[in-house]
Amino acid sequence: MAVFTVAFLTALAASASVKALPTLDVRHNDQKDHKDWNKGKDTKNYTEFEGWNTFKGYGSNLGTWLEIEVTNTPNIFLDAGYNVTDEWTFCREAGFEYCGQVLENHYATYYTTADIDKIATVGVNVIRIPTTYAAWIEVPGSFLYRGNQLKYLRNVTDYAIKTYGIHVILDLHSLPGGVNGLEIGEAFGNQDWFFNQTNFDYSLQAVDAVIEFVKSSVAPEQFTIAPINEPSDNLAGFGSPDIVTEPAGVDWVLKYLRAAYAKIQARCPSIWLMQNDSFKGSRFWAPYWNTTDKIVFDQHLYFFAGDGVYGNLIPGITCGQAAAIKPPGFNVFIGEFSLQSQYNNSLLVSRRQEVYDSQVVSFQKFLSGGAFWNTKFQGMMRVNGEGTQNDYWNFELLIDEGVVRPLSQVNMSYCLDTPVPTS
Ligand SMILES: *[C@@H]1O[C@H](CO)[C@@H](O)[C@H](O)[C@H]1NC(C)=O
Ligand SMILES: *[C@@H]1O[C@H](CO)[C@@H](O)[C@H](O)[C@H]1NC(C)=O
Ligand SMILES: *[C@@H]1O[C@H](CO)[C@@H](O)[C@H](O)[C@H]1NC(C)=O
Ligand SMILES: *[C@@H]1O[C@H](CO)[C@@H](O)[C@H](O)[C@H]1NC(C)=O
Ligand SMILES: *[C@@H]1O[C@H](CO)[C@@H](O)[C@H](O)[C@H]1NC(C)=O
Ligand SMILES: *[C@@H]1O[C@H](CO)[C@@H](O)[C@H](O)[C@H]1NC(C)=O
Ligand SMILES: *[C@@H]1O[C@H](CO)[C@@H](O)[C@H](O)[C@H]1NC(C)=O
Ligand SMILES: *[C@@H]1O[C@H](CO)[C@@H](O)[C@H](O)[C@H]1NC(C)=O
Repeated sequence: MAVFTVAFLTALAASASVKALPTLDVRHNDQKDHKDWNKGKDTKNYTEFEGWNTFKGYGSNLGTWLEIEVTNTPNIFLDAGYNVTDEWTFCREAGFEYCGQVLENHYATYYTTADIDKIATVGVNVIRIPTTYAAWIEVPGSFLYRGNQLKYLRNVTDYAIKTYGIHVILDLHSLPGGVNGLEIGEAFGNQDWFFNQTNFDYSLQAVDAVIEFVKSSVAPEQFTIAPINEPSDNLAGFGSPDIVTEPAGVDWVLKYLRAAYAKIQARCPSIWLMQNDSFKGSRFWAPYWNTTDKIVFDQHLYFFAGDGVYGNLIPGITCGQAAAIKPPGFNVFIGEFSLQSQYNNSLLVSRRQEVYDSQVVSFQKFLSGGAFWNTKFQGMMRVNGEGTQNDYWNFELLIDEGVVRPLSQVNMSYCLDTPVPTS
């Protein structure tokens, strides 16, 4: 989720000083002999993932866990005594020892196997997990915390796979240098990923580490790798197709993705790569790939900002929108969506079910399904109409309230009048 704040402008002025990172050995799990990387298969009691040509995801994001988004967890740094807008600034100001304590506690408690059990009650079959690059590699001068992220990631993903056969989308949300100038890209104001060979090389090292993690998991085929999120070399165009410049920015993104794809294919050829559309639409990127490539696009559909959408209109909009975005021969997964609309949000369970169900149906009918943002949410800002952000973004709360139900109970009568495009 990307949201602009005024703090972004102030943060642009802040500059980073350089400080050595602690060296922590978090690779213990990855050092196993890769010959036995699929030994978990003997005991599997779930349907193996057969690829994005047939898979329909019904899921949620484990976001703001291994990468922090202050709009989702507004108090995490405040409670620790720091009024800052991103993890980078927190660790720079607090020092790695203290920021490490706070973050390790967050990793250990924010999502656990209990959350997997909880979302499994509504039959979730896919989770998308954003991580910072610091979970995977050490980058000198970075203020992103490098700790035991992979230990927690391993525990939760192994459990989700073994117990429920859940598919896992591993997302490199930030990359060295900063992929978009936002907190989610590394830190507010950091925009050195584009056209910087050093950061490019680090990014591919992070991809290598992700591949090793996947290969040494209980079931590598249960993973999809997303090597970049919302790249932008033109922040003024964020949220529009101008977000990445043409041809230079587009070429740079493709150079990176092709290198990442080659690495995945060379070492784990059953694994798919998920490419974020970055507001350009999947149809923009599709011609750069072959339909036989294991490429699936990730597009995010939100109604909470900018489009002037009233909540009660979403059932009428989502079908046509979903029907229009799939490039022929390729698959599109909706990596993020929520229930908040810009205007006229209603707390009635039946109204929120309409908003949820109609989106789910449109993603199932026309696309490869979707993942709700977010499994947990703590933003309490008031929304237009009734309630606060939490009432429209918190998957676990929505399960408790009966808004989110198993797919078998979702009202399937939406999108009946919208034909599936033939091309
Ligand atoms: C945090 O800082 C912002 C801007 O610097 C300020 O508006 C806000 O009141 C501060 N919050 C707290 C809890 O101190
Ligand atoms: C892994 O998950 C189990 C529950 O399935 C829990 O008991 C254990 O503490 C977890 N370990 C870590 C390192 O989080
Ligand atoms: C898979 O097996 C585990 C125990 O090995 C069990 O707890 C779980 O319920 C099973 N899942 C399914 C979908 O049968
Ligand atoms: C590459 O980015 C780093 C920051 O990540 C910066 O320090 C360095 O100067 C950049 N190199 C070039 C050639 O711009
Ligand atoms: C993908 O692009 C959308 C814009 O369609 C953006 O909202 C989203 O955050 C991006 N995420 C990923 C993983 O690509
Ligand atoms: C598709 O594959 C062919 C043969 O491998 C290759 O020559 C071509 O460049 C590829 N096209 C794209 C768009 O990747
Ligand atoms: C707001 O939504 C309600 C239904 O929840 C609907 O009756 C009403 O017409 C909507 N208001 C506007 C201005 O669209
Ligand atoms: C399902 O949605 C339709 C609107 O498309 C509505 O008319 C119908 O009452 C709903 N059914 C249930 C059981 O809520």
